[in-house]
Amino acid sequence: MSLRSSAGRWGSVAQSFHWIIVALILVQAAIGLYMVGLPKRPSIIPIYNFHKSLGLTILLLAVLRLAWRAVDRRPDMPAGMSQAQALGARIGHVLLYGLLFAVPLSGWLFDSASNLRPLYWWGWLKLPHLVEADKAFAQTAQTLHVAIFWALAVVAAGHAAIALVHHFVNRDDVLRRMLPFGRARTSRSQP
Ligand code: HEM
Ligand code: HEM
Repeated sequence: MSLRSSAGRWGSVAQSFHWIIVALILVQAAIGLYMVGLPKRPSIIPIYNFHKSLGLTILLLAVLRLAWRAVDRRPDMPAGMSQAQALGARIGHVLLYGLLFAVPLSGWLFDSASNLRPLYWWGWLKLPHLVEADKAFAQTAQTLHVAIFWALAVVAAGHAAIALVHHFVNRDDVLRRMLPFGRARTSRSQP
């Protein structure tokens, strides 16, 4: 399979970014929801640090993904898709990218405004605080982090449902072309 995307398929780089980020977000969401239920003791700090480092890794991957997207092409919209559907898909994807950045950035803002400890990425790279310590703003950023996370969860669930409808109802290549071993159903979608 080619590294680059073609008219009919996503390339292996775009696919890897997509599925690695999906998997990391699932792990990250599970850790986040689990850790906030733990009693507040010093022993939970490593779990919080892990959540922060993994979240910042997802942010870095999102930046690299968009950079790759800028130099890679995008497969054509599948045949038979109306202009309105194509526009809907575009808007949905822009929204997903926006949320993909907003969730970790709001977490970083919350961490910065709380100013409890210095922020280290995997224990070795010290990152700056984005804002000065501010209790009221920290609360707003915390609320935002949770709300934007749930917005991402809802939009991503809708996005996944639409991908499955494409595959099982419309029986087109939209899901297959994002899968490493998917074979195109129609000759039009072959690279
Ligand atoms: C894609 C990345 C991220 C996802 C999906 C995510 C998800 C979550 C979730 C689901 C929670 C639990 C919310 C709740 O029910 O209260 C949470 C909490 C938290 N997150 Fe993230 N997070 C991400 C990135 C980050 C980053 C980058 C930081 C900081 C640098 C961060 C800092 C925190 C903190 C400090 C909490 C605890 C909030 C509290 O004490 O109520 N998160 N996150
Ligand atoms: C956290 C979860 C997810 C996020 C954040 C996400 C994000 C995205 C984004 C931003 C794109 C647009 C790619 C681009 O134009 O550069 C995309 C494409 C795609 N996603 Fe997801 N996705 C998620 C989960 C899923 C799941 C679970 C499925 C399958 C069931 C899926 C199937 C697809 C497919 C098939 C495409 C290609 C659409 C096309 O060719 O036009 N995604 N995803």
